[in-house]
This record gives sequence, C-alpha cells and structure tokens, in this order.
Amino acid sequence: MAKDRGHFATKFGILMATVGSAVGLGNIWRFPYQVGEGGGSVFIIFYLIAVFFIGIPAMVGEFIIGRHSHANAVDSFKKIAPGTKWHGIGYLGVLTGFIIDCYYCVVTGWTLYYLFLSASGGLLGNTVEGYSELFTNFAGGTFMPIVFLFMVIAITGIIVSFGIKDGIEKTSKIMMPLLFVTLVVLAVHSLFLPATQEGLDFLFLPEISSLNFDTLLSAIGQAFYSLSLGMACLITYSSYFTDDVNLSKTAARISIIDLMVALLASVIIFPAVFSFGMEPEQGPGLVFKVLPSVFSQMSFGYLWSVMFYVLLFLAALTSFISITEVVVAYISESFKITRKKAVIITCSIFSVIGAITSLSFGPLKDFTIAGMNIFGCFDYLSTNILLPVGGILTSLFVGWRLDRKIIEEQLALSPSKKFIFNLYIFSFRYVIPIAVGAVLIASLLT
Ligand code: PHE
Repeated sequence: MAKDRGHFATKFGILMATVGSAVGLGNIWRFPYQVGEGGGSVFIIFYLIAVFFIGIPAMVGEFIIGRHSHANAVDSFKKIAPGTKWHGIGYLGVLTGFIIDCYYCVVTGWTLYYLFLSASGGLLGNTVEGYSELFTNFAGGTFMPIVFLFMVIAITGIIVSFGIKDGIEKTSKIMMPLLFVTLVVLAVHSLFLPATQEGLDFLFLPEISSLNFDTLLSAIGQAFYSLSLGMACLITYSSYFTDDVNLSKTAARISIIDLMVALLASVIIFPAVFSFGMEPEQGPGLVFKVLPSVFSQMSFGYLWSVMFYVLLFLAALTSFISITEVVVAYISESFKITRKKAVIITCSIFSVIGAITSLSFGPLKDFTIAGMNIFGCFDYLSTNILLPVGGILTSLFVGWRLDRKIIEEQLALSPSKKFIFNLYIFSFRYVIPIAVGAVLIASLLT
C-alpha cells in the first residue's frame, strides 16, 4: 500500500466515513417523499430490491477498483487498464463530483444557517407564510447564503486538508454517531405525536396502483444517489481501505445503515407534518418551509428543531466532504502537489462556482438553461445523467475489462462460494448496466 497517500486506520472509521458519504440529503429530503409518492411500502420493497441487486454489487464493484489500485478516481483506471481510454470514467467521476459539489455546498450552507437560526431561537413563533417568506428571502439573498456557503467550504477544506486518518476518519467517528443518536431521539419523539398513525400510513400502506415500472425506476435512481454510486466517490474512499476489510460485508452494512437512516428520517417527518395539518413536500420546501412551522407548534419545539438541523447539517456535511475528497485526491496526485495546496485550489473554485450557483435563487434567478436555473441544471445534469452514465460504465469496466483474478482477490471468497462470484459477474455485466440504463433513458424521456 502506498504509505504516503494515507489510509483509514480502523474498520469502524471506514464504516463511519463511508456511511457519512452515503447518508445525506438523499436520505432526509428525497427518500421520505419518494416513499410517500411511490405508494408507501410498494416503493420500499422496490427500493430493497434495487439496493440488494443493484446498489450493493455496484458498490462492491467500485470498492474492487479502489482497493486494488490504491489510487484516485483517474489513476485507478490508468493503473488497471494502462494505455486504454477507460480512465475517462475517472474524469467523468471528478467532473460529476465537481458539479454535485457546486450545488451541494449551497444547500449545506442553508442547513448551517438554519442550525444557527434554530439555536438562537429565531426560528420559532412565525406563521406558515412567514416561514416560507423567511426561506425565500434568505436563499434569494446575495450576501447571507454566500457567507454560509463559504463557512461550509472552509470547514470541509480544513477537515479534508488533515488527510484521511486525521481528518475524514476522525471527524466521521464523532459526527456519525452523533447523527444516529439525534435521529433515534427524533424518531421516538415522532411516535408520540397526535397524527403518528396517519403519517405512518402515508409512508407504509401499500398503494397497489404504484406497482409499476416507473416506481421501480425511481427506486433504482434513488438507491444510486443515496449510496453515492456512479461518480468514483467510493472508488476514492476504498483506495484508502486496509486489506483486511471484507468488501461485500462492508457494502451490505453501509447499505443497511443508509436504508435505516432513510426510514427513520421518514418516521420523523411525516407524523410531524400531518400532526400539524401541513402538506408533505420534497426538497428545500419540506425542510426549510414546512418543518420550521411544524416545530414552532410542537411543545419543546426549540429542542426538536435544533436537533433536526444538527442532523441535517451533519448528514449534508459528511457527504460534501466525500465528494470534495474525490476532487482533492485527483488534483493532488495528478498534479503532484501537496494535499493542502490541492484543498486550497479545489475550495477556491468551489467558492466561486458555489457562489454563482447560490445566486440562482436571487439576482440570477432569471438566468435559465433548458428551463432550469443554474442550481436546477447542476442537480439535473449530475443526478439524472452523469451518475447513471458513470455507474453503467464502471460496471461494464468491472464486468468485462477487469482481470477476474483481481476480482477474486478483492472479494476473497472461499472456493465454495463460486456461485456468489458468478452472481457478481452477472450483475456487473448485465443487471446493473441494463437497470441503470433504463433509469437513464426514462429520465431523458421525461
Ligand atoms: N449519497 C449522498 C446523499 O444521499 C449524495 C452523494 C452522491 C454523495 C454522490 C456522494 C456522491 O445525499
């Protein structure tokens, strides 16, 4: 293992850092709404199928590339397939990371602002319209959202500049357990609200009309986004894994924790929303307009709102860190500069583009591309197009191009588990490319 690149020190650290990447806005503001819209448990069953048959093998595929090569997104492909064009997948990953980061930092900045606002008591006692206005005025402003965006980029830059073990691993080992405790306390509280049953029904009651192909495709798309797949993020993280880590088990654990977090987030949100007569929404509308109003009507609303925004901030920050690491690792290793310099360059570029993206809710809101503002454009391009394309290509690479010996070595399966090995190959070659290809085509057609 290349010592100078650094590596994670403990298995617990590996799990926390990788779960930190997976658990993010995808779990808290995307998943709950998709379950509600996608026919409750119908969506959940499709989601389980997607995670099990597509998410876990795709994650293991990225882990195999990363841990075998111990290199960044681009160099890992160059090492495994020298003299070919496969490393284009690595460039695509870095580009996707870049684009996601440019809007993810804006939202992470909002979460930090709402955390400050709730902690200072400024988020209580407003009207429904008041909360909506508060958010629109804040996000549409020029100065404040950019200040918070810079704060988030600075925090991330400092953590990433300390490297894998002393930066990302150490902070994940503190932040993720804190996130889990907060999540569980909030979920338990939600079970004692007046409309708990209504909320749980909205979430879990199966709606047979949703039993269709579209719901399945949304579940696959959601699994891909939520598990941080398709943009070399997990290739980069696994390049710092130690050799004693079991890749299949780690992928299964990450996916199960990610799912539990998404389910608990749903249990937090819907009973609360219904108990106070609000309508569920998704995305920013839900967590920055609807929920503040819900918290302000609850007893001990101050406490619950602070906890919720701590949760949201930690979830967003740890994902933002992981995407930033993809870009930093690539820049520092490819241009042979120190990690600190690479962090400064990366964060400076993010600050400029992030600030411009942030303005797409204010002064630049009329600037649209294909009917979307800059923020929407980055979100659409990365989530609906670049992640699926990256996922398909990575899977084809592992299934068709990667030496089987490398796969065998990395999976470390006993000879009696030949069947599982073949199942992985079948998934890499056919299941993942076809399923994710269908998601890509569907999103291009709508
Ligand atoms: N998985 C993260 C979430 O759920 C988003 C993400 C996508 C992070 C791709 C890293 C890479 O919010």
